[in-house]
Amino acid sequence: MKIGNIEFKSNLLLAPMAGVTDVAFRSLCIECGADAGVTEMVSAKALSYDNERTKDLLLTAPNETIKIVQIFGHEPDVMADMCKSPLLEKFDIIDINMGCPAPKIVSNGDGSALMKDINLARQIIEKCVKASSKPITVKFRSGFDEEHINAIEFAKMCEEAGASAITIHSRTRTQMYGGVVDLDITKAVKNAVKIPVIASGDIVDKVSLEKVKSYTGCDGFMIGRGALGNPEIFSELLSKECGYDRFDLVEKHVNLLRQYYPENFIGGHIRKHFLWYLKGYVGASSIKVQVSTESSIDKVLDLVKSFMRKNL
Ligand SMILES: Cc1cc2nc3c(=O)[nH]c(=O)nc-3n(C[C@H](O)[C@H](O)[C@H](O)COP(=O)(O)O)c2cc1C
Repeated sequence: MKIGNIEFKSNLLLAPMAGVTDVAFRSLCIECGADAGVTEMVSAKALSYDNERTKDLLLTAPNETIKIVQIFGHEPDVMADMCKSPLLEKFDIIDINMGCPAPKIVSNGDGSALMKDINLARQIIEKCVKASSKPITVKFRSGFDEEHINAIEFAKMCEEAGASAITIHSRTRTQMYGGVVDLDITKAVKNAVKIPVIASGDIVDKVSLEKVKSYTGCDGFMIGRGALGNPEIFSELLSKECGYDRFDLVEKHVNLLRQYYPENFIGGHIRKHFLWYLKGYVGASSIKVQVSTESSIDKVLDLVKSFMRKNL
């Protein structure tokens, strides 16, 4: 896949996930074979106010050879200004979130709310494209709800407005993350435009990847929930060795977080990852309380690693 003049190799990307795809997790997934990861969504408005916590979302790792930032907002001029901002200078691609279903985002007119206002969505994309020399991409859903499935019209609009690629997550806003993705919509979107189309949703192993690839003919493939507690999914999908066993990966994850964030942030954040890493291990519930309550991260790490070793 080529977006603008940026070439992808494996065409596998880590999907943007708020609260998950920070610099450490992206770096880990790239280590395991992902071409790139997308940052958590970043509010254009918050960035324009110089919000410090928001700037943390823009940290990048040395192994991120393709850097993709995702921004959200609904004011064309604020979004366009953000695309010109020196804060985004280091990124190679700017992705616009037009698919987030979260109530507090939608009630503000952001994310998937833009699928209901295609003219405003067009204005945003056109202004961002004009403001930046970087490829602008757009991620959206099949529609706002069952009665308003407009992904094909929306995809064509994105292409006309100057987007360099699109990502389609074929669920409606009302479906949130439930049910299964509608691959017929993904396929129809792919056939409706000439720009690269990335498929997102329900890719969790080789079988599901192969199904999406062969059925839709998409150019790139995003893995979201399938990578939670499982960054090795990228090496599995590529039939390659990741080079790390699971114990090393968990430890590497903690070390990477320590390179970028203060201990008090990591303490709250890594526990959910530990619980994801433990998913599928028989008897893991016996240590889950300790994982959630023990204050020393190093002690939790030892606990998780020794549990995994004993339960190989
Ligand atoms: C916890 C979580 C956070 C997410 N945050 C974002 C986000 O910030 N931006 C976005 O475009 N999509 C977001 N998504 C949607 C994913 O990028 C992806 O499209 C969706 O989860 C379907 O893919 P999957 O089945 O591989 O998880 C999020 C999904 C999850 C589960």
